Amino acid sequence: MSSSPEIPSDVPTAARVYDVMLGGKDNFAVDRAVAEASLAIMPELRAIAVHNREMLHRVVAHLAAEEGIRQFLDLGSGLPTARNTHEVAQEAAPDARVVYVDIDPIVLAHGRAILADNAGTRVVTADLRDPRAVLDHPDVRALIDFEQPVCVLLAGILHHLSDDEDPGGIVAALRDAVPSGSFFFITNFTRLGDAPESVELERQLLAQLGTGRVRTPAELAAFFDGLEILAPGLVPLPLWRPAATIIDASTVDVRFMTGGVGRKP
Ligand SMILES: C[S@@+](CC[C@H](N)C(=O)[O-])C[C@H]1O[C@@H](n2cnc3c(N)ncnc32)[C@H](O)[C@@H]1O
Repeated sequence: MSSSPEIPSDVPTAARVYDVMLGGKDNFAVDRAVAEASLAIMPELRAIAVHNREMLHRVVAHLAAEEGIRQFLDLGSGLPTARNTHEVAQEAAPDARVVYVDIDPIVLAHGRAILADNAGTRVVTADLRDPRAVLDHPDVRALIDFEQPVCVLLAGILHHLSDDEDPGGIVAALRDAVPSGSFFFITNFTRLGDAPESVELERQLLAQLGTGRVRTPAELAAFFDGLEILAPGLVPLPLWRPAATIIDASTVDVRFMTGGVGRKP
């Protein structure tokens, strides 16, 4: 991939490091160096990224097919990959609309391709740390009607916000902006008391990438304040309504990310 003024190749970004984990090609040597250092600490990270995508697919399919959700606001959506949110949602409901929002301009650059033949999607470059700017963005308003229930996706993004940036306050602002019957899908890195590599990984990511906050189950639960959590609760990602029935829930790859879905009453 070539570098440009908007997409510098000398500083790693979360979107591109995640792309490395998912086996994508939209990344630079600096991103691969961070990914390799992370994988040296936690080799399961590639599998964990796949678990995160697979939970996203199950959640979006469920909300579109069973809960009648037709609008999805995918915050920190990352680079386009296999089976993006709009593909899963529109499979269940062809009239579903999806707005992808990411701070990294590379997402817009690569997302333009998915816009070409799909009137039901937009890609926006915006910073979630200013939730009002996200909510008021003209491309968000063009597709999302905030009088109707919406699913807000916060998959793998809140761990890229530090505690000082008040991720709980940001989720609360989003919750206040959507109507009753809306859903929140949240996943986050989770501290594992019996696996010291979860702490070591946080140290490495903060040093090399600048973000990567590993949170406790209680810290994750606080993001769901004011929401009714859907069964089976806040769980390791592969355990959320799995297609397969037998999962070994003792491994780091299953447990390192936790997530769930909450409904605004
Ligand atoms: C690990 S990726 C997750 C991608 C996707 N949501 C998923 O779960 O597969 C995290 C994404 O959050 C984006 N991000 C980080 N901080 C952000 C911010 N303040 N505002 C918007 N996006 C942000 C990164 O650029 C990156 O693409």
